Amino acid sequence: MMALVALLATLLMTSCVTSQREPKTHQGTTENIQSVFTGRCWDYDVTKYNNILPRVDAGCNELWDKFFDAFSFSSPCDVQKANYDSFYALADQNLPEDKVMFWSGVYTLSHRFAEAGHNYVTLEDTIIGYLVNSLVWCGQLTKPGVNYTACPEWSDCPLEASESFWAGASATFAKQAKGKVTLMVDGSNPDKPAYRRSSFFGKHELPSMSDAVNEVHVLVTHTLDKPKIEFCGSGSLVDLEEDVTKRGFSYECEDDPVAVMHLLCANEPSSRECLMALAHASGQLADITALPGRHMNAMPDQMAG
Ligand SMILES: *[C@@H]1O[C@H](CO)[C@@H](O)[C@H](O)[C@H]1NC(C)=O
Repeated sequence: MMALVALLATLLMTSCVTSQREPKTHQGTTENIQSVFTGRCWDYDVTKYNNILPRVDAGCNELWDKFFDAFSFSSPCDVQKANYDSFYALADQNLPEDKVMFWSGVYTLSHRFAEAGHNYVTLEDTIIGYLVNSLVWCGQLTKPGVNYTACPEWSDCPLEASESFWAGASATFAKQAKGKVTLMVDGSNPDKPAYRRSSFFGKHELPSMSDAVNEVHVLVTHTLDKPKIEFCGSGSLVDLEEDVTKRGFSYECEDDPVAVMHLLCANEPSSRECLMALAHASGQLADITALPGRHMNAMPDQMAG
């Protein structure tokens, strides 16, 4: 009986946690959005990315005003990217050379790998992305100018307020990239190719990069113990190479970089692929050349740098 109660309690807790994490559809503007935004802003200025990214001159209230002006008192489906231009201009930051990372379909992994700017800088590390990351917002014509009840999905309207924001933010971010840039994609999603021309990278980032970029380095990652669907040089990655080359950048592609595999294995040490690596490391697999695929003993560039 006790066991049953415990089991039920566990199930109940699990389902609560799950439902809290799932994005609610048609959620309204985040409560207290102005306080969240300005609080994040003051904190960013003092404690975040201090030796990695420059500070912006604009004050936090000024940044909020420009952001708020872009979408408030408008229909949520009628916000152009250009509405946010003065916000982007105020919050623009120079980005370190060779450190910019783009991602598509691998939010969590790419940010773990980037390590808050220590390895790479993502859009969400810059103040533009940081201030509003995972917030919801949209306008309404009547007071208070934002709709706290419901916001449309990105797919519900062509010029949705936050989609326009992220499109413009991505382009602004890409414009600042210099040197070798990195793109992490997912080669094991059965529902979505690793690269789509309609993705943020294809539509807003690649086209916005300047001549200061010379190389696009693609990291194709695969979920542990799941079918690996696309690899460098196959499927949609052929289109990616074509698009990158057309822009005049050199193209490099790497499947499952060792440093990324180690991150994945840190989370799922008992997956088949990680156990195999462990067996090799402890000498239980005599000959690594007998293993299909990669060498696990190479020191990855990313870790050496
Ligand atoms: C808020 O958004 C919902 C859903 O789009 C809409 O039905 C409602 O009329 C909006 N509120 C105002 C005041 O515009």
